[in-house]
Amino acid sequence: MKLLKEKVLQEGIALNEQVLKVDSFINHQIDAKLMKEIGLEFARLFANEKVTKILTIESSGIPPALMTGLEMDVPVIFAKKHKSLTLTEELISQEVYSFTKQVTSNVAVSRKYLNSEDHVLIIDDFLANGEAALGLAKIIESVGAKVAGIGIVIEKAFQPGNAKLQEAGYRVESLVRIKQLAKGSITFVEDEEEQGQTSSKGELN
Ligand code: G4P
Repeated sequence: MKLLKEKVLQEGIALNEQVLKVDSFINHQIDAKLMKEIGLEFARLFANEKVTKILTIESSGIPPALMTGLEMDVPVIFAKKHKSLTLTEELISQEVYSFTKQVTSNVAVSRKYLNSEDHVLIIDDFLANGEAALGLAKIIESVGAKVAGIGIVIEKAFQPGNAKLQEAGYRVESLVRIKQLAKGSITFVEDEEEQGQTSSKGELN
């Protein structure tokens, strides 16, 4: 997705060889127009998957999931990482380990909002090791519903998430795929051979 690639090149900062900082348009401040385009693109990519619901995980997965739900005209559910005062119905929980943050979260969705007839599209902002998406897929499948696909805004293709999800049989669509983060450069998978596609803003401490 050209617009997203340009944004990553203009504003993304490689904090180190593993982590891309995108606080200015995804993780803290949100670029609403870009999110709208992201929603359109996911809706186009998964148009034939008979999607009935979208599932994401709080917090940064919510904006792209919401815009996709708006385009596809389906409800958007976000899995909770924290206990809720009002979520008192039967909960489906799954432990998700983050290699990046080295913490385990218990993510939960109310049984009330998923049923066995659903075709659920998983949307998330980052794909690293695939643990969040696998956890959401387990939640979906635990009620007999189907995973319609997995839509990722930024995939770090040098980490094993995509391969794990494909091995598990899921269709994965990433809007941009990063091959490498290094000092002063962000390289996309399909742009390897092209010139002028690296950022001059990347910072490696
Ligand atoms: P995984 O689900 O693919 O296994 O990823 P991992 O556990 O390694 O990452 C967990 C958290 O770290 C997620 O955020 C994910 O979005 C974020 N993350 C991973 N790599 C990067 C990166 O290179 N840059 C940025 N900006 N974030 C990254 P989270 O804990 O769910 O937090 P939230 O931001 O959604 O609240």
